[in-house]
Amino acid sequence: MSLQIKKVCCIGAGYVGGPTMSVFADKCTDIIFNVVDVNVDRISAWNSDDLSNLPIFEPGLERIIRKCRGRNLIFSNEVNNGISEADLIFISVNTPTKTKGEGAGKASDLKYVESCAKQISKYAKGHTIVVEKSTLPVRTGELIKGILESQKSSIKSPTFDIVSNPEFLSEGSAIKDLEFPDRVLIGGSNKKALLALGEIYGNWVSKEKIIYTNLWSSELAKLTANAFLAQRVSSINSIGALCENTGADVREVARAIGTDSRIGEKFLNSGPGFGGSCFKKDILNLVYLANHFGLPEVGSFWESVVELNTWNQKRLSSIIMSKFNSVRGKVIGILGFAFKANTNDTRESPAIQICKDLLSEGAILRIHDPKVEKKQISIDLGQSFKEYLLCNQSKEFNNLKKWEKFSLDKELFQDTDALVILTEWEEYSKINWSVIANWMKSPGWVFDSRSIVDSKKILKSGLNLWRVGDGTLN
Ligand code: UDX
Ligand code: ADP
Repeated sequence: MSLQIKKVCCIGAGYVGGPTMSVFADKCTDIIFNVVDVNVDRISAWNSDDLSNLPIFEPGLERIIRKCRGRNLIFSNEVNNGISEADLIFISVNTPTKTKGEGAGKASDLKYVESCAKQISKYAKGHTIVVEKSTLPVRTGELIKGILESQKSSIKSPTFDIVSNPEFLSEGSAIKDLEFPDRVLIGGSNKKALLALGEIYGNWVSKEKIIYTNLWSSELAKLTANAFLAQRVSSINSIGALCENTGADVREVARAIGTDSRIGEKFLNSGPGFGGSCFKKDILNLVYLANHFGLPEVGSFWESVVELNTWNQKRLSSIIMSKFNSVRGKVIGILGFAFKANTNDTRESPAIQICKDLLSEGAILRIHDPKVEKKQISIDLGQSFKEYLLCNQSKEFNNLKKWEKFSLDKELFQDTDALVILTEWEEYSKINWSVIANWMKSPGWVFDSRSIVDSKKILKSGLNLWRVGDGTLN
């Protein structure tokens, strides 16, 4: 007999916790899912009547929230209460890269995980299954176990099982990934606890797709999956740069190698470099672990994946600048600020570094993104809140303002010297270039870092085009 789960608590209502628990609640109507977070604004946004105001944009999320919120899906700031009532707790808090102390710049900062574990040990009642959902370095389970057990004072003290269940969802397709996962990974040592979680997934995932492993394998598998994916992006970007210098076309090379079933066709899109909250952080974590365990060659192998990514972003800024004597005073439209399409997330977005590079050379930027808010762009570009407010008050766009957020209409394109496509939003592939060319300064440039425009149409309109992976097209 496995353990009966009636109430689940998820600590952390972020990009992972929010969508994950929403799909769980949709698929398991006889379980209550309580999503708790210390962030008051975030929880009130999750509870907002206006569903277009949810803190996270994910296709399909609104529909599920409408159906489940208030039924068996609750968002609240009552963290301790949520812990006390739960049979199973997901830890889904942030694990940023450490900025201080041993491993700074590489290792994950586990302070939020530790504080969660302390709260759980204090408020949990009876027997509780504690599930690591956040991506964590190998052997974090041991740390959590240590904290939970250190509080044990009597026979009546709560008892715990630690399980690792990493999330493989990808932003922008999170709901689809959760509803139809390639696999579900559950790691741990207590069979009953593993099966209890497996049974929850069993409501919509077939048994063959649920993989059971030991705790450490599960933790390492998550880091490894992200490292392999990131490595593919750096690999194809390195080949893209080579193509630009040799007359080859990276799309043709990708198609040619992707048809080899051992290589496969996915994750071969050359672009501005990978962003998102996971890839860089997880690889640096792997580098730290490798060095920690005396394997510096392994560490430097993985570190090169991040180094190539940083170089690739810088390369793009340099290419844009190289087309002008100087970008000082040049008006450049930035199309896309999110790290990929279909998300409002800007964490580690290549757009941040590229915009900073152009701003520091004196360019004036008109930024468009359908989902990223102006305030977020302001934070990412390191603008002070006062500057942001000033920028917001004035309707005029003038040279004193270094950047401004624009809608995707004539005002953005009028008299621009260049347009840089940084995120593959669908609307950019539908732009009517013959109309835009008349609004832009001549000779106008289009830099397509995502390969989404029709190159023939751009060239026919008289614009100059640079495209990732084959360079300047005439
Ligand atoms: C990733 C993993 O895919 C997911 O399994 C894990 O749970 C979290 O990290 P995510 O960061 O949301 O998901 O997005 P992903 O689609 O993997 O893209 C990451 C970055 O790589 C993006 O910046 C994307 O634009 C870039 N990318 C991806 C490419 O440049 N080319 C590609 O072919 C694929
Ligand atoms: P992810 O992308 O992994 O979901 P986010 O940063 O989007 O990460 O979300 C993590 C959430 O965890 C944040 O909203 C943060 O407020 C929350 N959080 C961190 N520590 C705690 C804690 N001890 N108790 C409750 N919530 C926490």
